[in-house]
Amino acid sequence: MSAKIIDGSKVASELRDEVRQDVKDWVDEGHRPPFLQAILIGNNPASNTYIGAKTKACKEVGIETDTLRLPDTVSAKELKKTVRQCNQNDDVDGILVQLPLPSHLSSHDVIESIDYRKDVDGFHPMNVGRLAVGQPTFRSCTPAGIFELLKYYSIPTKSKHAVVVGASNIVGTPVSIMLSREHSEGKATTTICHKYTKDLTQHTIAADIIIVAAGQPNLIKGEMVKEGVVVIDVGISRVADETREKGYKLVGDCHFESVREKASWITPVPGGVGPMTVAMLMKNTLLAAKKSIYPG
Ligand code: GUN
Repeated sequence: MSAKIIDGSKVASELRDEVRQDVKDWVDEGHRPPFLQAILIGNNPASNTYIGAKTKACKEVGIETDTLRLPDTVSAKELKKTVRQCNQNDDVDGILVQLPLPSHLSSHDVIESIDYRKDVDGFHPMNVGRLAVGQPTFRSCTPAGIFELLKYYSIPTKSKHAVVVGASNIVGTPVSIMLSREHSEGKATTTICHKYTKDLTQHTIAADIIIVAAGQPNLIKGEMVKEGVVVIDVGISRVADETREKGYKLVGDCHFESVREKASWITPVPGGVGPMTVAMLMKNTLLAAKKSIYPG
């Protein structure tokens, strides 16, 4: 079998078209356009790229945005003061602090300082908690994007065995909640693997669906998966490649060629999950502007 490709670029583009229309309708009703405030600390090249992609998507769908760039020496106090000003500004609908943060800053503290009603990343404990208990919430963008892809390609999760590799707060944990809870979209039997898992293959080989978000190129190889598995590769790492103009190429967490031979569906890197994350951020920002999750 050679897997069918899950085309995240195409699905994300269709989603952005929908959001653009919804933003237009919202503005035609007399509202100001949604506004996303991004905060970028330091000069991490990947973070710069992500913020660039988010800004471009905002322009495309009619969401206004601004990026506050703070030096990597910024104190926790100064950063939280900046966040507080955004919280209190009625013209700001969504706030995004790009991660990772410099090591002297606590991402927990910074995320918690964001007004959860403006937390379009869905990282605030209020939103993660509401996700876990099945209340309306800002779903974090990458897990939400993964579910949009599964829905688009009519790939069922109910009663399947899903294996999540990686237990980060940004992807592994929220996607495992969405997969596993009977009240949420997934309704799958869900295994979470992480760096303490003794025998990764024992789990991946039994999976109907693998979601890998470990940040380790080539972690999942063809011999570790069963025929017909659905593979969602969230990893995106830069590896040196002299033949490219930039000097690097982007790779996922799967050894694409060998996994593709056995899978029924697979996401490419780039062009799989990445564009979906940005599209879902647009959706969440519109929801924030409309106060759809937290009315009043
Ligand atoms: N760093 C990596 N992914 C993300 C994301 O989805 N949102 C933010 N704010 N930072 C990230």
